[in-house]
Amino acid sequence: MRTIAILGSKGGTGKTSLSHCLAYGAYLHKQQAVMAHTDQRAPIKSERPYEYLDASDNFSRVISAVKANRDRDGLMVIDGAGNRPHQDAWITRSVDMVLIPVTNSPEDVRCALADLTRLADPKVYVVVNRWPTNSLVRAVMQRYIKPLPTSRFAGRLPEVGAMRALLEDTAWRTPPTKVNNLARQFYRVADGTLTRHQTYPLPRFDATVDELAAAPL
Ligand SMILES: Nc1ncnc2c1ncn2[C@@H]1O[C@H](COP(=O)(O)OP(=O)(O)O)[C@@H](O)[C@H]1O
Ligand SMILES: [Mg+2]
Repeated sequence: MRTIAILGSKGGTGKTSLSHCLAYGAYLHKQQAVMAHTDQRAPIKSERPYEYLDASDNFSRVISAVKANRDRDGLMVIDGAGNRPHQDAWITRSVDMVLIPVTNSPEDVRCALADLTRLADPKVYVVVNRWPTNSLVRAVMQRYIKPLPTSRFAGRLPEVGAMRALLEDTAWRTPPTKVNNLARQFYRVADGTLTRHQTYPLPRFDATVDELAAAPL
């Protein structure tokens, strides 16, 4: 399996929602999919169309799963858990790609730039989440995300209110169409970025936050 981790030191950016969304998107693209849950939130007990691994109280389960799944087809998604620098460092070394979500706030952008610097690996990309439909709000968000370096930009995912359905621990029902479309879109964005990354690898870098902020969009 290819492995993608969704990380970031900032809470509330959509790491858990997007991890479910990406595993579900892989399923909709007829891929086998595993989602590994590592945060403190109560694990989900209900069935999902993707495999669900609860590693909230035992990170070594993620380590074993990454190794065990390496030779399987499909996609494994790891939901990172906020501020755990050692786990983040292990995850970054061990996966094929890391995605850091950024939502509509300058604070998210600052944290993502700091995470890019801290993780210092070309396989770490930023994905803009909750991209607004309203053009005025979009213009504001466009200004916020300007400091993000283009070479680290995976894509934008829209605001979809019904996304919260993916975090509800109720019997699985096919989510609303907008969620299905988002899941397919996210899978294409992630798959495209990973393929591009593996085809045209960027050099390793140790840029400072200031250098990253100065990079053109
Ligand atoms: N694309 C999106 N559209 C609408 N709401 C979203 C989207 N992504 C995340 N959310 C909402 O943002 C909140 C925080 O998401 P969560 O996945 O728990 O973040 P994290 O795991 O980074 O703390 C949740 O209420 C979730 O439903
Ligand atoms: Mg979370």
